Amino acid sequence: MHASRNQSGAAVPVITVDGPSGSGKGTISQCLAEKLGWHHLDSGALYRLLAYAALQQAVPLDDVDALVQLATRLSETYQLPTREHPAIMLGGEDVGLALRTESCAEAASKTAALPEVRQALLAWQRHYRRVPGLIADGRDMGTTVFPDATLKIYLTARPEVRAERRYNQLKNKGIVVDLGDLVREVEARDLRDSSRKASPLMPAEDAVILDNSDQDESRTLEQVLQAVHDVL
Ligand code: DC
Repeated sequence: MHASRNQSGAAVPVITVDGPSGSGKGTISQCLAEKLGWHHLDSGALYRLLAYAALQQAVPLDDVDALVQLATRLSETYQLPTREHPAIMLGGEDVGLALRTESCAEAASKTAALPEVRQALLAWQRHYRRVPGLIADGRDMGTTVFPDATLKIYLTARPEVRAERRYNQLKNKGIVVDLGDLVREVEARDLRDSSRKASPLMPAEDAVILDNSDQDESRTLEQVLQAVHDVL
């Protein structure tokens, strides 16, 4: 039996949560996965992991062939973390914090713009579709990776609100950055992610679009749970 089908042969349900960085999709997806007892795929972590490995191995970020080889190698050997084993390990090293840096996000956004790289990561992402269900978060989960998802959520917020959230996260970690610089970085990354030819960041036609600029996380979770309740 193929893993993406359940015992009765029906497709394993997927809920996709797409949106730009700082939209809160990661936290909402984790909460949803916990509440439903489903698996969670943070697809951005795969793009970040590939970029991090490329930087470590001095693979140029525009060397398509080398990046595809690296992506294929990673997809054959790497296991994403689970609730029981949450650390992101690469070559015996816990790379969780390194993957969250702005420089890694920047590199991930560059390599993610290459269609061949996206293609090389496609099967790997679909592999996480397992019983009882999957919450998949990213940029193109609803449009490209799981177009047959049971429910597609698109979370967004104004760029300055998303930059401020990032600013506060960094401040809490004792890292002081310039808010104006962060707004410009967020806007530049949005533009790159949404204007690329391969699977650009955009809501699927059948997505439920939620703008959470003026509300807190618990209100967004309520709205998402209502949407889940309507389809499951
Ligand atoms: O969600 P994130 O910030 O961890 O994603 C890091 C980068 O990876 C982001 O700039 C865009 C890219 N990405 C993508 O192109 N497609 C996805 N499904 C997930 C992430």
